[in-house]
Amino acid sequence: MADKSTKHDLVIIGAGPGGYVAAIRASQLGMNVGLIEKEPVMGGTCLRVGCIPSKALLESSELYWKAGKGLEKHGVSFEGLQLDLEKMMDRKRGVVQTLAKGIEGLIRKNKITRYEGTGKILAPGKVEISLNDGKSEEVQADRIIIATGSTPTRLPGIEPDGDRIGTSTEALEYDKVPEHLVLIGAGAIGLELGSVWNRLGAKVTVLEYLDRILPGMDAELARLAMRIFQNQGLEFHLNTKVVGASANKKGCRVELAGADPIECDRVLVAVGRVPFTDGLGLEDVGIRTEKGRILVDEDFRTSVDGIYAIGDVIPGPMLAHKAEEDGVACVEKMASGYGHVDYGLVPAIVYTSPEVASVGKTQEQLEDEDIPFRKGIFPFAANGRALAGDHADGRVKILAHAETDRVLGVHIIGHAAGELIAEAAAAMTFGASSEDIARTCHAHPTLAETLKEAALAVDKRAIHS
Ligand code: NAI
Repeated sequence: MADKSTKHDLVIIGAGPGGYVAAIRASQLGMNVGLIEKEPVMGGTCLRVGCIPSKALLESSELYWKAGKGLEKHGVSFEGLQLDLEKMMDRKRGVVQTLAKGIEGLIRKNKITRYEGTGKILAPGKVEISLNDGKSEEVQADRIIIATGSTPTRLPGIEPDGDRIGTSTEALEYDKVPEHLVLIGAGAIGLELGSVWNRLGAKVTVLEYLDRILPGMDAELARLAMRIFQNQGLEFHLNTKVVGASANKKGCRVELAGADPIECDRVLVAVGRVPFTDGLGLEDVGIRTEKGRILVDEDFRTSVDGIYAIGDVIPGPMLAHKAEEDGVACVEKMASGYGHVDYGLVPAIVYTSPEVASVGKTQEQLEDEDIPFRKGIFPFAANGRALAGDHADGRVKILAHAETDRVLGVHIIGHAAGELIAEAAAAMTFGASSEDIARTCHAHPTLAETLKEAALAVDKRAIHS
């Protein structure tokens, strides 16, 4: 542990995907880095109570569902199928622990000084750390990066009680399968965790304020996704405004504007996230914010010299991989003046079954911006590998500029869409046309052939549809 006189080249507050990745890259570039994190486990929301534990439960719950209902047509059936929820949760915790140890190892290997405590900026170059062991310490740094992430948005009229009414954090730890789970918000968090508990046997009702699910995603795919989720048993109430929720020992009651209340035994509030900057001392040092987000320039500099910000606390999508890109670009710019993130090409993935993935512009955005486009669609139902694997529900949609043929957006719903989208993101990063994707030899039989066929379909020459 460093002493009172410790001076670093760079101090980073927050060891989520933005902060710890920035720390590693900065160390690779020769900086002496201090990394402050209040939680004993590094990796941030993503590793502790977000991306990773939810993916562990999505995987386990899908296996359970398949074993119960999805394998008969394969000629595989089980008798006496049982759910051991505690074991499922233990496996999830194990995955998190393994990855957390991995990050600890990386931080050690890169000779980054880790401070377990809460950082507060006293002035440019000066951070006070309230250490978790009760002591406090002041460190100096040429530069400071704020990477403190985000926290769930609260809804007026709903006070999470940390048990029956909670956020994704609680929904990753229910000790038994709810009979009736009400989800408020049909975004990524609601649909992923709703899928988990639906597969494990809960009745799941989704209440969404808008007239559609997955706002921000391509509307055509979102409509298709909703139909598929409905077939899986999720019940949707769109155009529904939640005005309150209360809980007692027996259950919960969710109050709606203009409709009857709903009784249930658990409520999951997933209506977005807000930057977490409490206690950092932003106002005292004069760091400018707008709607809670820290304003930065293209070099991630805040309004105060020597203080930078990345990830969920600044404008842009609140996604782990975007925070990582911010972190790397931020420290590379510090070291060399060069660094780059293409914010137009940040993929977004919803890890439901099937997955929904997207990169670039949606059809609605192109229409709003009057950009002429051609559209190629290819269904998974016409792909050999998809059928062999029982993944016929899905489609790829490619949007290419009508004149230049440059690919402007790719939207996929289907098995492994989250993996397939990487090809689209890589192609678009290199400025590909749909003809480029169509002319790329794709191995047969693979799901990736759906991308090639959708690219061919842009020019109305798909082979298999
Ligand atoms: P979200 O912003 O994606 O969706 C929230 C939904 O709640 C919206 O559809 C909104 O219209 C609705 N809503 C808001 N107020 C409401 C009300 N009073 N009654 C009913 N509906 C209401 O937020 P979500 O799902 O909480 O995710 C938060 C952040 O975390 C997002 O930035 C998301 O991208 C990110 N995330 C990403 C994941 C992924 O990439 N797979 C997984 C989980 C989260």
